[in-house]
Amino acid sequence: METNNSREIFKTRLGFLLIAAGCAVGIGNVWRFPYIVGQYGGAYFVLLYIFFLLAVGIPLLTVELALGRASRSSIARCYENLEEKGALWHHNKWWQFSGNYILMAFYVVVAGWFLYYFLAFAGGDIPKQINRDDAGANFGALLGEPDTMFYCVLATVAISFAIVALGVVKGVERFTKPLMVILTLLLLFMAVRSCTLDGFSEGVSFYLSPDFSELEDNLGEAIWAAMGQAFFTLSVGFGAIAIFGSYMSNRHRILNEAIFIASFDTIVALLSGFVIFPACFTYGINPDAGPNLLFITMAVVFSNMSFGNFWGAMFFLFMLIAALSTMIAVFENMIAGCMELFKWTRVKAVVINFFFVIALSLLPMLGFNVLSFVHIIGSNTGILDFFDFLVSNNILPIGSVVFVLFVCAKNGMRWERFIEECNIGQGFTMPKALLFYFKYILTTLIVVVLAVGYFKIFGRA
Ligand code: ALA
Repeated sequence: METNNSREIFKTRLGFLLIAAGCAVGIGNVWRFPYIVGQYGGAYFVLLYIFFLLAVGIPLLTVELALGRASRSSIARCYENLEEKGALWHHNKWWQFSGNYILMAFYVVVAGWFLYYFLAFAGGDIPKQINRDDAGANFGALLGEPDTMFYCVLATVAISFAIVALGVVKGVERFTKPLMVILTLLLLFMAVRSCTLDGFSEGVSFYLSPDFSELEDNLGEAIWAAMGQAFFTLSVGFGAIAIFGSYMSNRHRILNEAIFIASFDTIVALLSGFVIFPACFTYGINPDAGPNLLFITMAVVFSNMSFGNFWGAMFFLFMLIAALSTMIAVFENMIAGCMELFKWTRVKAVVINFFFVIALSLLPMLGFNVLSFVHIIGSNTGILDFFDFLVSNNILPIGSVVFVLFVCAKNGMRWERFIEECNIGQGFTMPKALLFYFKYILTTLIVVVLAVGYFKIFGRA
């Protein structure tokens, strides 16, 4: 293991790449992406999404990786390590760091649902040939049972923290690498199987042939959703990528690694659509079912399929691994941050954070039952949606703008130092001339996302 001032550095480049990609690949790819594509009419949304990934996503990944590698610290210390004396940038760390906790509070609940469905299919507990109403009742019953949800959440959180407790190389790298390989194999296996379904061509055409007539109806909303998805899926804006920059070696240039992470993330999201949409069309189910797409629609699909328990278990295992890879990464960011902020040992940080995350997750969990009367941002949305709104529409975009302005600012990291950091090692050169793009165009685009997001959420009231 290489060390840098006793900081652990990933043993292999593949380890770094798969872990950073694992941080990005999560419910955003396998759950949020397919249902948003379904809601916004399929293929043209995919094109918009790819545009924002290139215009915003890859640049933001380079910013976070450079911040982490140049400071060799998490968001807890990276501002202090890079800013000019007397600058105030470091005050941003508190609210950005808190984004990790708000994200995980609801993320672990969704991961718990994946575990529940995985166990239900693997144990043959989902009856054969159920219809939408049965599947809806099944999911509704789960939401109405806080104790079942609690045990599922407890198991996923305990596994992820146990891995993080072992350290960066012996825990995070050792376990996430094989998990990402299994995830890729499962996805390929299911995508190949998807080609044999009767609804394959209809599903793929819905997914990949743009219908530009739909642009007239909801372009503004689709643009907002596509940009928000780019933030969420890449985990940018709150330091979860920066922490892996802080463990990466100096051998490769940052742009190369950012392109790999974004490409891997996008391939997983696109292939998830290849698995989901042909299955929906084969069983005559509308793919615009929204957030319930996976838990209701896919339960119907698998219960009607031959060997449905096997395929259902495979599918939800894949979902679960995607969620775990993000949880392990974000927990690592929390632990590294607490160790740097409070000088705790890793074990102490793990124990305290374990209980804290479990306690926070109770709010979105109880929001479906005991606290179902709580509606913070609209009568149809509960606590989980509010937490998602706080992170996706506030902390990630504002945090990303702050990071970009910080690397451009003379009293921050400074653009010259950012370019120097990006261009250490071998690979693609980050051009110095991009300053105008980063400082003005990129930040304006992000501010527009925010404004459209606010209008969408509050303007319809
Ligand atoms: N990037 C993470 C995901 O896509 C948050 O789930």
